[in-house]
Amino acid sequence: MQTLNGTALAKKIKSVLAIEIEYLVNKYRRSPKLCIIMAGDDPANSSYVKSKKKSCNEIGILCDLNILPYATSQQELLTLIDSLNQNTEVDGILVQLPLPKHIDQNVVLQSIDYKKDVDGLHPMNTGLLNSSTDALIPCTPKGILSLLKAEGVSITGKHCVIIGRSNLVGKPMAQLMLRENASVTVCHSKTRDLPYLTRQGEILIIAIGHPNLVNAEMLKEGAVVIDVGINSVEGKLVGDIYNSIDVNNIEKKAAAISPVPGGVGPMTIASLLENVVEIYKKRMCD
Ligand code: GUN
Repeated sequence: MQTLNGTALAKKIKSVLAIEIEYLVNKYRRSPKLCIIMAGDDPANSSYVKSKKKSCNEIGILCDLNILPYATSQQELLTLIDSLNQNTEVDGILVQLPLPKHIDQNVVLQSIDYKKDVDGLHPMNTGLLNSSTDALIPCTPKGILSLLKAEGVSITGKHCVIIGRSNLVGKPMAQLMLRENASVTVCHSKTRDLPYLTRQGEILIIAIGHPNLVNAEMLKEGAVVIDVGINSVEGKLVGDIYNSIDVNNIEKKAAAISPVPGGVGPMTIASLLENVVEIYKKRMCD
């Protein structure tokens, strides 16, 4: 069984970007800049945003972290986003999700200038992705596609089954796989006979957010399995399928699997860095 090594590929992408950024900064006399906004102090989210900032800084991207109190009002958040939209030194804006319950996530995401929408969640970018044109692509699906391609997984004509229909992963992943000429099935919590569908997946992408829902019985022999889950079980990091109860049988049946940690996680960050540089280059050439 092949292990799809996201850590190694992300490292390679970062070193190539670092060289490109050094060249661009020399040419344009300004560093690319990302602003991350987070409201509240959820420990998992705090650790994600800190690792995003660290990765930016490692390759020459400036990164401002705006950590706001949980009680921040929607209006305060919109005012901050408006000032970042206007700020010519800011290339990318990322609002870490989820937001506090009293804030309407859609209103906030739609207030971001879509040209600075590094997460690809603005309706303009989702629309552009759906019409197969130039769009900023959400980081996790973009990273998964890069990993599949780099590991030599062919996609054209394959049946790709995705479990999860979130705006962050499932829906944009489906669009990307369609664009790559796969046949796509999207499953979710209301899907009837999930095992029947997962057994057809030559590429199976699991983005559920809790472990042990998928076992070896539910896999097609020789499937390529992408595990998007990050779950903490008794203090240990496990995926939705990787290191789950049935992992030994899963490893016997699958042709390839992305591990947790070290699979999709580092690729999400690498794609974020790529998106910041893509926006910066567009803005400098406009
Ligand atoms: N929360 C968990 N993953 C993500 C992500 O990729 N982007 C944003 N904005 N929030 C997240």
